[in-house]
Parts: sequence; structure tokens; C-alpha cells
Amino acid sequence: MSELKNDRYLRALLRQPVDKTPIWVMRQAGRYLPEYREVRAKAGDFMTLCTTPELACEVTLQPLRRFDFDASIIFSDILTIPDAMGLGLHFVSGEGPKFSRRIESARDIDNLAVPDMEDSLGYVMDAIRMTRREIDGKVPLIGFSGSPWTLACYMVEGGASKDFALIKGMMFDAPDEMHKLLSVLAKSVTSYLNAQIQAGAQAIMLFDTWGGSLSGDNYRAFSLAYMQQIIAGLKREHEGRIVPVTLFTKGGGQWLSSMADVGADALGLDWTTDIGLARYQVGQQVALQGNMDPCVLYAQPERIKQEVKNILAAYGHGSGHVFNLGHGIHPTINPEHVQALVEAVHEYSAPYHQ
Ligand code: CP3
Repeated sequence: MSELKNDRYLRALLRQPVDKTPIWVMRQAGRYLPEYREVRAKAGDFMTLCTTPELACEVTLQPLRRFDFDASIIFSDILTIPDAMGLGLHFVSGEGPKFSRRIESARDIDNLAVPDMEDSLGYVMDAIRMTRREIDGKVPLIGFSGSPWTLACYMVEGGASKDFALIKGMMFDAPDEMHKLLSVLAKSVTSYLNAQIQAGAQAIMLFDTWGGSLSGDNYRAFSLAYMQQIIAGLKREHEGRIVPVTLFTKGGGQWLSSMADVGADALGLDWTTDIGLARYQVGQQVALQGNMDPCVLYAQPERIKQEVKNILAAYGHGSGHVFNLGHGIHPTINPEHVQALVEAVHEYSAPYHQ
């Protein structure tokens, strides 16, 4: 494996000194890039992109050709695990992800098993191995998974949901069943992420997109506890380097001190949290990733630069900050605005590291 040429992202996650604040963007490979839309149109559907390592590798690399990002993230989806469990994932245009079979009963839960990684998810490991070869040490490659709670939301609801009526009904009526479901998911995610590390993922991110829909107590019992189990089960050293873990609960800003206690190296913040206050609260324990409102990228470059300055100033001096958006980039963003963002982060952050 070739030597890593830019390790700013890994160093910032471990709160080691850096020359500039590293930046990458959630969903950096995606529909806002015309070259992505071209590959996606040729592939026909989204899952073909994910399951064909050459195509997943190509779209992973696309944003790196345009922008000076400090990390790449393997092109895939969090819903590959429920798909591998036999739920039949497909994407309905305009409606997002759907499952042919949803989890409705105790029997459905009993029938679930940890999928065999190389058999049913080998395409993800192949894409990681291929991307590591092609990326040639330019920047680190991030592997990822959804959190058990977030995966369970899609599996029980059968797709996206606004109110989470079905999964919350199950959680309140049948907590033991819910724990069984989350437990098999936590085991699956642990073995999935370990397989990704073995295949060459150099950092790990856990996406808990829907943890923020819970009350504090239920967040800790039904989401955070399982992420803690996963982190404890990860092999966090590979190729002689630490593999840092970032935990991102969208809407989790109130629970940062609990989140900082579960063994993650970094916490992802959405834009509703003040990054300066967050650092004050947990900055001795973990690094922070975030947290520009994705809609700032609709504004003109001058306004984007101002917002970058504000966030860098709010975090303040020293390492431990990975710049990112507070959630995924919107598909209608102008790529030139992303260019302005990346340049601004590198330019304006240098004085904070002197
Ligand atoms: O960040 C990256 O560049 C890596 C790729 C990535 C994708 N999905 C690609 C994708 C990652 C990290 C994800 C994670 C993911 N997927 C999450 C967690 C992060 C978050 O956004 O909260 C969730 C909840 C999903 C489930 C999912 N997959 C949704 C809600 C959608 C969008 C549906 C739509 O039509 O907008 C997807 C599809 C998806 N995953 C796309 C991409 C680029 C769009 C697919 C397309 O090309 O049409």
C-alpha cells in the first residue's frame, strides 16, 4: 500500500497538530456533480452503482479530481445491511429508499441473522480495496455504516418516514423485541465495519441520522448504547495506524456529553449546535466534525467565505476540528460554490494552527 500523502484528516480526528483544518463533505460524491449524474445515468439505478466496484470506485474518486478535499468516503449506502438481510432494497424516484419486505413482528425479527460479509457484502469490500489502490495514498478513505437505530427505522417503516409511527409504536409496546432487533443490527454493523477496516478503510463514520427523533432517555437506551457496543467491538488499528471513529447523531446536540463517553474519537455536529459551545463541553475528550448549514452553499462565494470564517473562529485555535457540512450536500448545489468552500477552509484556517 502506498504511503499516505495527506493525513491532516486522521491527525485532526486524533487532535494531533495540523497545518490547516481538513475538510470533506458528507455526500461529496453525488448528484450535484454532472460527472456523477453521467455515470449514474449509464448504470441505470443507484444500487448498480453501489454493487459494481469499478463504478463505486469511479464515483468515490470524482470529487477528489475537482476539489482539494482531505478525505474520501467510499461510495455506498447505509441500507446495504438490511438489503443483505433479505429485505429487498430499491429506490423509487422522488420517494427515496423502499424495502419490499418490512419488519412487522417478533417472528420477522427472529428470522434476521448477521449477514455473511464476503458473501452478501463483498462488493463493498471489493470497492474499498479497488479505491485504496486507485487513490494511491492521496487522502485517507473513510468506511461507514448506519447506526442500528437508524437502520431499524428504515426496516420497520419500510422506507423513509416523517413521524416514525411504526418504529416508535414498536419501541414503546415491545421494548424487548426492539432490543433484539437492535442487537442483531449492532452485531452486523460491527462485523461490517471490521471487514471494511480489513479491506482498507482508514477511518470509520457511524451515521445516526434518526437518533435525534428520540427523547434523551430513549436515545441513550435505543441508539447510543448500541453504538457504544459497536465501537467497543471494532479493531481500531490497521496497517500500523489508528483507525479513528466519528459518531454523528443528527439532532444530537443536547447529548454531546453522553456521546463523548462512548469511546468515539470524534463527534459530528449538525448546524443547529454551536461548535464553540460544543468544544467547550467536550473538546478535551473528542474531536469535532462540522457544521455548516448545507444551505449556505446556495449563497454566493463571498457569503460562503464569511460563514467559513465564523465557524473557524467559533471553534478557535488548535487541532481537533474537521470541517464539514452539518448534513449531506443538496443535489442542486453549484460545484463552484464547493470549490469556494474548500479554498476558504484551507486559506482561513492556517492562522488557527500557528
Ligand atoms: O457521502 C458520500 O459521498 C458517500 C455516499 C453515501 C450515500 N449515502 C450515497 C447516496 C453515504 C455516506 C450515504 C449514507 C446514507 N444513506 C444515510 C446517512 C446519512 C444521511 O444522509 O443522513 C442515509 C439516511 C441513507 C439512505 C438514503 N440513501 C437516502 C435517504 C437516499 C436519498 C434518496 C434520494 O433520492 O434523495 C439514499 C440514496 C443515495 N445514497 C444517493 C447517494 C449519492 C442518491 C442516489 C441517486 O443517485 O439518486
